[in-house]
Amino acid sequence: MKITLSIIKADIGSIAGHIKPSQKLLETVENYVKQKSKGLFIDSYIGFTGDDIAILSTHKKGVLAEPVHKLCWDAFIAGTKVAKSQGLYGAGQDLLKTAFSGNVKGMGPAVAEMEIEERPGEPFLFFAADKTDPGAYNLPLYLTFTDPMHTPGFMLAPQIKKGFKFIIMDVSFTKADKIIELVSPEEIYDIAALLRDPERFVVDSIWSRATKEQVVVVSTTRLHNIAGKYVGKDDPVMLVRSQKNFPATGEILSPYIISPYVGGDLRGSHNLPLMPVKKNSSIPYFDGPPIVSCLGFCVHEGKLTEPADIFGQPFWDYVRDKAARKTEEMRRQGFFGAAMLPYAELEYGGIVKTLKELEKRFIVRKK
Ligand code: F6R
Ligand code: MG
Ligand code: MG
Repeated sequence: MKITLSIIKADIGSIAGHIKPSQKLLETVENYVKQKSKGLFIDSYIGFTGDDIAILSTHKKGVLAEPVHKLCWDAFIAGTKVAKSQGLYGAGQDLLKTAFSGNVKGMGPAVAEMEIEERPGEPFLFFAADKTDPGAYNLPLYLTFTDPMHTPGFMLAPQIKKGFKFIIMDVSFTKADKIIELVSPEEIYDIAALLRDPERFVVDSIWSRATKEQVVVVSTTRLHNIAGKYVGKDDPVMLVRSQKNFPATGEILSPYIISPYVGGDLRGSHNLPLMPVKKNSSIPYFDGPPIVSCLGFCVHEGKLTEPADIFGQPFWDYVRDKAARKTEEMRRQGFFGAAMLPYAELEYGGIVKTLKELEKRFIVRKK
């Protein structure tokens, strides 16, 4: 049976700055989806990660389907009304366009969708990150899909030995989607050469070379490209299918123990470790560190199981402690060097203006 898994997510307002949505806001979005999705969605799940609300749905309409996108857009509009009535910060912040036109791509919300031929057992993972960019998934994906140190399946499971096709997007190109296709294992050094720069090159999707099936889809939105100015971090979502012809769930999770430094957190202008967090977590410290949640599901004829809160398991408390320590170390150097993003990524107008003003005061010393 062919079904579509869709995640559409947006920040439409949060409590105490950029911490988490209010209960009333979350319930408004949930109730809207519950009431209006009859006959359209087979199933759905709604949750939050930091200040972002994500709608996961299953349906038969394929990717970029207008009724699915319109329903989620309208749910976010309904939520925005409540966010405004409660005085939440950044109410409606990710709804960057006023009129809906076909689908929400390019309108602010992040989208990750895949149409799949459902396997008899169909496990998948739903990742949502806050206070960071889509490139935050580059390193974990690279390691899972190329490296036997994380995916012993490359030695133990012949069906994945054929490798994977990576579609990588250059998100600095704003006129259309500019993509390249590279295959593992032959081109892993070229893949690494691109994925090393997560602000510019972002994994868009990954496909099995053995079966041609899609395994991964990542939301690649860069909000400042849509708005033409800084309006907050993109806070990417991702779907990853697991087991059989794909990496095992454990192989997909393996790299998250690293908590690599990624761009984001306070004023979207710093580097801090990507901290794995529990389901429906708020933001802990310094408008960061960047956080990522992971919910595991199985789906049968479009019906979802309850989510398994993967990073809620106590093992990840240890990883969180390490990420907190890395956070503290980096924060000790405040604004200096690697602690803050490079000039090209400093999306806050303020510092750019200051540096332009200072430029006028530079003089070239006479010999
Ligand atoms: C992402 C997020 C940040 C803020 C950014 C701007 O969820 O919260 O990227 O959008 O720090 O914050 P304000 O609007 O307070 O300038
Ligand atoms: Mg925010
Ligand atoms: Mg956010």
